[in-house]
Amino acid sequence: SAAEKGGFDWFMRKEIYEQPKAVADTLLGRHTDDGALTLDEIRISETELRNIAKIIIIAAGTSFYAGMVAKYAIEHWCRVPCEVELASEFRYRDPIVGPTTLVVAISQSGETADTLMAIRHAREQHARVLAICNTNGSTIPRESDAVIYTHAGPEIGVASTKGFTTQLAACYLLGLYLAQVKGTMYGDEIHAVVKELESLPPLMQQVLDNAQPVLDLAARLVDQPSVLFLGRHVGYPVALEGALKLKEIAYLHAEGFAAGELKHGPIAIIEPGMPVFVVVPPRGRDQLHDKVISNIQEIRARGARPIAIAEADDATVEEFSTTVIRLPKVSTILQPLVAVIPLQLFACELATVLGHDVDQPRNLAKSVTVE
Ligand code: G6P
Repeated sequence: SAAEKGGFDWFMRKEIYEQPKAVADTLLGRHTDDGALTLDEIRISETELRNIAKIIIIAAGTSFYAGMVAKYAIEHWCRVPCEVELASEFRYRDPIVGPTTLVVAISQSGETADTLMAIRHAREQHARVLAICNTNGSTIPRESDAVIYTHAGPEIGVASTKGFTTQLAACYLLGLYLAQVKGTMYGDEIHAVVKELESLPPLMQQVLDNAQPVLDLAARLVDQPSVLFLGRHVGYPVALEGALKLKEIAYLHAEGFAAGELKHGPIAIIEPGMPVFVVVPPRGRDQLHDKVISNIQEIRARGARPIAIAEADDATVEEFSTTVIRLPKVSTILQPLVAVIPLQLFACELATVLGHDVDQPRNLAKSVTVE
């Protein structure tokens, strides 16, 4: 009913707007005032965590893209090799897993069969399994050694939104916790990231409050047969997630690419007028930003319509983009928390304009309990 949807047309839209609170709730009570992480729910001893030689993140769908972001953060902060693998692939390829492997299973529902079978296999090989999950008492956390619950509240829309951003928050917490335990970051460095994480929910709210341009864009792009998404670094999984959202609910051909990989093939499919979303990293000391700008120039030169998702005062994107969607200033590694929001809204709006049932897309289930 309309009341259940809190005045929104779809649960999905309601859940998109719930994200600032969902992320704040997920961060709540998980650190002290001076930024030390207190993840008491990780019932794996600090000694054991220090001895972890490899982390393997396993997940499916949107949760897999959260895992891709987590890999960037964990390797950067904790200096532990970290792989991300689709649960359905992991289970049946004889992966190298043992007592010094930490397997992190990310699942909103906690019931995805592919992910469940993967953790059962990992535990048979004596790996430690930590679940990141949104559903209390569901099967995956019950069969894991430890769990970090995301506090998103029930997610009803089949296409995951607040599930994703709260998974990101939990992954960042896990990465910082491991860095704390392993001593790969100083306390004040951890504190600085924790403080920035805490500042994110109001910034996510800003993105929601300034969403009109992206909604207008959806109305303008209804006739497009195909939409591309480009990103680099943590913007790459965001691009993949943007494409997945469009496939799931707008039934459009959409693909996400690593921006640097464009020249190795995908650029051949660029057609004049093709909309290409580009997640632009913040300007920083690294070369990421400039590399992405040159990727925008390349697609623009081939007549595509680049839609830049870029930070507020980044003027470099204007010359080469037909549309610029603005994001608040955040550091690169945390940018997915704000950058994904316009893409979620775009998919939701486009599917609505096309007349689809956004909450119950054809052929999809909220949780897939068969392999
Ligand atoms: C299904 C849903 C997706 C979800 C995926 C993984 O395919 O339709 O939205 O991302 O399962 O679900 P999980 O509950 O394990 O995160």
